[in-house]
Amino acid sequence: MLTRGRGDCRYSGNIGAEGAQVKEEGLTVAEKGLFDAETAEVGLTGRPVRELPEPAPLQSHGPATILAMCNQKGGVGKTTSTINLGAALAEFGRKVLLVDLDPQGALSAGLGIPHEELDLTVYNLIIDDTTDVRDAILNTSTPGLDLVPANIDLSAAEIQLVNEVGREQALGRALRPVMRDYDFIILDCQPSLGLLTVNALTVAQGVIIPMECEYFSLRGLALLTDTVHKVRDRLNFNLEVMGILVTMFDRRTLHAREVMERLIEVFGDTVFDTVITRTVRFPETSVAGEPITSWAPSSQGAEQYRNLAREVIERSQR
Ligand SMILES: Nc1ncnc2c1ncn2[C@@H]1O[C@H](COP(=O)(O)OP(=O)(O)OP(=O)(O)O)[C@@H](O)[C@H]1O
Ligand SMILES: [Mg+2]
Repeated sequence: MLTRGRGDCRYSGNIGAEGAQVKEEGLTVAEKGLFDAETAEVGLTGRPVRELPEPAPLQSHGPATILAMCNQKGGVGKTTSTINLGAALAEFGRKVLLVDLDPQGALSAGLGIPHEELDLTVYNLIIDDTTDVRDAILNTSTPGLDLVPANIDLSAAEIQLVNEVGREQALGRALRPVMRDYDFIILDCQPSLGLLTVNALTVAQGVIIPMECEYFSLRGLALLTDTVHKVRDRLNFNLEVMGILVTMFDRRTLHAREVMERLIEVFGDTVFDTVITRTVRFPETSVAGEPITSWAPSSQGAEQYRNLAREVIERSQR
């Protein structure tokens, strides 16, 4: 007769010669596998949770891996992810420069920088060859995390650039002097695929696509990946989609879970293991003007962005 309960697996009776041979702590190997499978942790993507290596400390800094945080859909978490991924990378000892490429200046505001009155912003760097990026860089309250701010001036840049020679390379030219000083430069794009975003894609090596798990977001992804391919073919052979980041995920809704399933089906490992769940803590941090890693260091949101930073470091080394 067989008697067993979970965690208390003892046999009485004959389990047969083969089973007896592989018996281990009262369990056959086959049955051990069965219980392991039961306890194997599954992440929000539906894939098994992977233990990510702790990033090794750096002895020296640079050259920078340049990442464009990009999605033409508005309000999907681009700015939130730029701030918090940047802060988490800085926590791991990386030197990080964030560049605000949105005339709304949400990145600058989210880091507590009063940007409206600034005379020297990314706009000047893009439009005027003689401005030095080092003069526009501001330190933030997070050690190792710097910012090139933006304000409404930037809204004129696209029109002014249109007739320039090398209009797609204006940002790359502006950032060149500091590319060796940072480990990561993250470009927070505005919700459009206009010339400023094309500038970001032209200088970046990797694109991170934040998205909400909604049906219409999937359709937008096709247009975005198409643009990425075009820029890669014509302007920047090094460009790759580093990963798709699911943000504001709410596992309680069936729709979100279904879209996640479809996303994994279509994009597979391009989707980061890290999923950012929906929490009111993020709107709170925008008001506080600091990253979640310092505003609520032990919150789930902070831990999720640290995990994303581990993944980004891993993927940037491939
Ligand atoms: N995980 C989250 N849970 C809840 N709210 C979030 C989360 N991430 C971001 N938000 C909130 O959603 C709003 C939009 O986020 P964010 O500004 O980062 O998006 P965006 O893609 O940069 O927007 P835009 O396209 O306008 O630049 C903000 O109010 C932000 O605080
Ligand atoms: Mg934004």
